[in-house]
Amino acid sequence: MSIIEKAISKLERAAGNKRTDRVRSQKIQRMTVDAGNTLSKENDVTPNKQSSFIDSVPESVNVEPRNYVVIDLKRLNQLGIVTPDQGKTQIAEQFRIIKRPLLTKAFSKKNNNLIMITSALAGEGKSFCAVNLAMSIASEMDHRVLLIDADVGRPTIPNILGFENKIGLMDILIEDSVDVADVLIKTSIEKLSLISVGAVHPHATELLASQAMLMLLDELAQRYNDRIVIFDSPPVLLTSEARVLAERMGQIVLVVEAERTAQQTLKHVINQFGASSDISLIYNKDRTFSDNKYYGYYYS
Ligand SMILES: Nc1ncnc2c1ncn2[C@@H]1O[C@H](COP(=O)(O)OP(=O)(O)O)[C@@H](O)[C@H]1O
Ligand SMILES: [Mg+2]
Repeated sequence: MSIIEKAISKLERAAGNKRTDRVRSQKIQRMTVDAGNTLSKENDVTPNKQSSFIDSVPESVNVEPRNYVVIDLKRLNQLGIVTPDQGKTQIAEQFRIIKRPLLTKAFSKKNNNLIMITSALAGEGKSFCAVNLAMSIASEMDHRVLLIDADVGRPTIPNILGFENKIGLMDILIEDSVDVADVLIKTSIEKLSLISVGAVHPHATELLASQAMLMLLDELAQRYNDRIVIFDSPPVLLTSEARVLAERMGQIVLVVEAERTAQQTLKHVINQFGASSDISLIYNKDRTFSDNKYYGYYYS
């Protein structure tokens, strides 16, 4: 049984449905993460599922000067995000396993360093996984990372990392005079840089599929060919532009929410991507793997 079929059958089991249908499975990553069992309980971090990033983030802004952000590691820890000072926690271990195959492939082919994090719908954990992946890679000094907030309809990276969204991706796309270097934000984590969404634009989603965006992706792949570029992206089923974006990405990471993303939905989403797409799955918010019940990742 392919990994995608395993993931689907897991979704079915969660729904009490034992039937397993076949779906297209070429190019899907093959790896499974069993969350939590190898790590000591004292080190486990149990973020409260109910708490949202937005709810738990104070209003304070840490931008000083404008293109530099001091990241509050203590607060990130409380949000369940991997940080450099954390040591061997369950979440750190999970993202260590998740990032390995992505990193292995990142420099093997042109554009493979561009990694799109997406999901079927909103709220399934794209931003949570995008930030954790970026932090894990940057914290452990694997590579330099550029994290781009491209979920223009629901941007949350500034809220999670504690800075104010001013100029960003949209400004590059709208204004010819604005360049990547103008909007790039350095952070107190040496290997991590950020680009936020920037200007509010009535056609923000459409701009993601524009020629300007496609040119920007090519530019990023070349100019930052030594770093991992992670896009926190819009959900595939809500915006057709996400599919256009996916065509230019080297790797697609599809976040599947345990007990929520339906089997048919998952199949439908996978079928939206081109046959040559390189798709990985993160099975997020899984209660079955860990004792402390709330998160766990199944990565395939
Ligand atoms: N593995 C997880 N463990 C605990 N909370 C999570 C996990 N994944 C996501 N969340 C929470 O679920 C909510 C939605 O996640 P988010 O990443 O914002 O979704 P999306 O970006 O797909 O809209 C957030 O409040 C986030 O804190
Ligand atoms: Mg999000």
